[in-house]
Amino acid sequence: MPKGKSLYLLLALISFGIIIYVSYINFIYDPQAEEFLSHKEGLKRPLQLPLWLNVMYVHVVFACMTLVSGLLNFSTKLLQRYRKFHRFNGYIYVVSVFMVALTSGYMAPYSTGGKASSIAFNMLNIIWPFMTGMAIISIRKKKLIQHRKWMIRSFAYCFTNTSIHLITFVIHKGFGFTYVNSYTISIYCSLIILPILAEIVIRRTLPRTKHTSH
Ligand code: HEM
Repeated sequence: MPKGKSLYLLLALISFGIIIYVSYINFIYDPQAEEFLSHKEGLKRPLQLPLWLNVMYVHVVFACMTLVSGLLNFSTKLLQRYRKFHRFNGYIYVVSVFMVALTSGYMAPYSTGGKASSIAFNMLNIIWPFMTGMAIISIRKKKLIQHRKWMIRSFAYCFTNTSIHLITFVIHKGFGFTYVNSYTISIYCSLIILPILAEIVIRRTLPRTKHTSH
């Protein structure tokens, strides 16, 4: 199987697993987010639970939409056969990214770990829409390779939540850090690791060109 195809299947499998898991945990198993909220201590601003929960639900729905629409648009077959769908779905992806960032902007000041976590989340709130915007600008200029590169970088951040929880788990359980500190560290780690992974995927799957502007 070609490298690109097996990577695509792997990502599809992981994304599907994330969507099922995140939806189950947040809408069925713990809809009041009691487990997650139990780690919040000494918040500077009091959290308005019903509002926070509703924003979090919207956040989760759009986050899942970024995974589905992003994944579909990386399918070469779909792109070749249904160009209009690729375009339409691309805008669904963009709107979803902005909705995740918007809801994240509301939740960031209340984030586990306080100011340090909030700063990291707000950095993500700027970098992620920026990368997505660059993908749109490049395709408008008909720079196909650049468009794919920026989309790979943008799509990597769709795995932010999974990455945060995995790294938190490793640092907390493996190195004995407190949950809160592990959580904060994991946001910064995700901020750095996900784009590195994106660059690896770009190098392995896209043709190397001296002039990458087309
Ligand atoms: C696209 C994949 C994503 C999914 C599936 C997702 C899902 C979630 C979920 C379920 C929560 C509730 C708490 C938890 O269990 O972690 C949450 C919280 C949060 N997410 Fe996301 N998210 C995603 C991406 C992002 C991105 C890219 C950002 C930043 C731009 C972000 C910012 C936040 C913030 C600020 C919180 C609140 C954290 C806290 O209160 O400590 N999320 N997310």
